[in-house]
Amino acid sequence: ATALGGALGLALTANAAFAQCDAGEMTIRFAHVTAERGHPKGEAALLLQQRVNDELDGRACMEVYPSSSLFNDDDVLPAMLRGEVEMAAPSLSKFGAYTESLQLFDLPFLFEDILAVEEFQNSEAGQALKESMLDEGFLGLAFWHNGMKQFSANRPLIEPTDANGLRFRIQPSAVINAQMEAIGGTGIAMPFSAVYDALNSGEVDGQENTWSNIYTQSFHTVQDGVTESNHGIIDYLVVTSEDWWAGLEPDLRDELAQILLEVTHERNRFAFELGELNKIRVRQDGVRIRTLDEETRALWIAALSPVWTQFEDAIGRDLIAAAEAAEG
Ligand code: LMR
Repeated sequence: ATALGGALGLALTANAAFAQCDAGEMTIRFAHVTAERGHPKGEAALLLQQRVNDELDGRACMEVYPSSSLFNDDDVLPAMLRGEVEMAAPSLSKFGAYTESLQLFDLPFLFEDILAVEEFQNSEAGQALKESMLDEGFLGLAFWHNGMKQFSANRPLIEPTDANGLRFRIQPSAVINAQMEAIGGTGIAMPFSAVYDALNSGEVDGQENTWSNIYTQSFHTVQDGVTESNHGIIDYLVVTSEDWWAGLEPDLRDELAQILLEVTHERNRFAFELGELNKIRVRQDGVRIRTLDEETRALWIAALSPVWTQFEDAIGRDLIAAAEAAEG
């Protein structure tokens, strides 16, 4: 794996040692749910931890808890408001209880690729979304990339009708639920940490996720194959409690914000390559990857278009138009 990463020029963070904070240092707990290594979010969190602990040593210290070891995504946001964790990076599909506008990112076939996602996130409308949950006590600090979503199931998925009657694990998103219903399936929301077992036991038939999530959780090993549908995205909002952030000593807050900005630039550049690398690893495990020709892709787009109509008022037509304008 390391050799493959090296071949693609992926500079992964060298030292993953869990940071033990010293007495007197302010502790910043960062909880997330994915793998620590070989994954865009895991690697970005490690780099953030390394830089905070090198550059703010003596004043602040970061402890990263990967793989749902502190909280899963259902628990982490309420826990943040209770002061039990300072930072997290849930996928944009997990904020539905707090804002409808982030549901934008779940609309199927909205973005052509991750570059278009990035262009939109950097626009005025995209940046404003980071402040869409201030009333709820949350401040978004940065968008982190993962990649485009692919479908998988325990039988071949080529045309949308192949999904008829299947149960798909979904993230807790009304838009994604509607997406599964639009192709005749049922969405079953469950935490990321439960997905492998649910696929393996047959509790659900399929799922949708990125190459990096599929490979690092071994979802492909308990599925018939993966359909390279690129029908949506998984991206993250690095989020904190607005109260906690406002309470930081201003110089420290500025330095932390600068480190986060630099880590975001550096790691986001590699998310796509890491996804491609994880796709190669899935293929190397002998798993069938099915691609869609243009005609078949058009069938998926048509089948999922009613989801847009269903949610455009809640999300906002102007916001959707701004996202559509991003070409990458
Ligand atoms: C999922 O639940 O499938 C993803 O949001 C996990 C993640 O953080 O990428």
